[in-house]
Amino acid sequence: RLMGQQEHSREIEAQLAKVLGIHHCTIVLGNTDQEQNSLVELARVTVELIDRILPEGKSTIAVMGGTTMFEVAERMTERIGLHRELLFVPARGGLGESVDIQANVIAENMARVTGGKARALYAPEHVRLETYSLLLEEPEIKETLEIVENARLVLYSIGDSIEMAKRRGLDDATLHMLQEKEAVAEAFGEFVNPKGEIVYKLSRIGLRSSQLPSIENVVAVAGGKRKAKAIEAHMKTVPPHTWLVTDEAAANEILNGG
Ligand code: BG6
Repeated sequence: RLMGQQEHSREIEAQLAKVLGIHHCTIVLGNTDQEQNSLVELARVTVELIDRILPEGKSTIAVMGGTTMFEVAERMTERIGLHRELLFVPARGGLGESVDIQANVIAENMARVTGGKARALYAPEHVRLETYSLLLEEPEIKETLEIVENARLVLYSIGDSIEMAKRRGLDDATLHMLQEKEAVAEAFGEFVNPKGEIVYKLSRIGLRSSQLPSIENVVAVAGGKRKAKAIEAHMKTVPPHTWLVTDEAAANEILNGG
């Protein structure tokens, strides 16, 4: 019976992957928005996936911030570090988030649990053009960004556009503009509409979605019914080798058209 259930969900996983135009996805039971144990499962399965796809030896893992990534860090285990030499780096600046969900802190936590190393990227997410070029000349930042671009794995979540715009303290005019342009998703500081077109970019420091094709392993972790539209739109911007870890609630919403 259990076997039958697993096969059933594997079928739905294949169906969802096909609809989203990617090779693989994993679906956990429940709605991670509302059920803590479902969120824990989402994180646990993500850690398991990392263990499966990451080879032995040296690897750099670029991570993003957010509450989902925070949970993934909580579920990290010593096992991930076994036979591996890991370096965790924040994929983007992002000092705008509250401290405990900042990518810097998440990278640090993951490194501690797995016995790896972490490297910080102290750059605000949103800077003016002049500041940006100056920051890029900083040897420390330059070097970190090079490390990020050469990561073996990038690990991130996807957010609802308006929710993320508010969390990042964007002003009313920008919020209005985002609504006008029908932005539904945010990831990598890029706001996209349902067609997957970038309608607004939050900042320039760190990894962009256009750099994903050259990264060996891309893992996006996002669940919850309220993120369905965001997931669907964002997936139009990623290379097909992106692996999505999501939940039943989001999957059903995407597959059944809400
Ligand atoms: C982060 C990404 O990993 O997750 C953001 O950098 C994204 O771009 C965010 O919007 C989503 O946050 P949360 O709290 O919903 O996991």
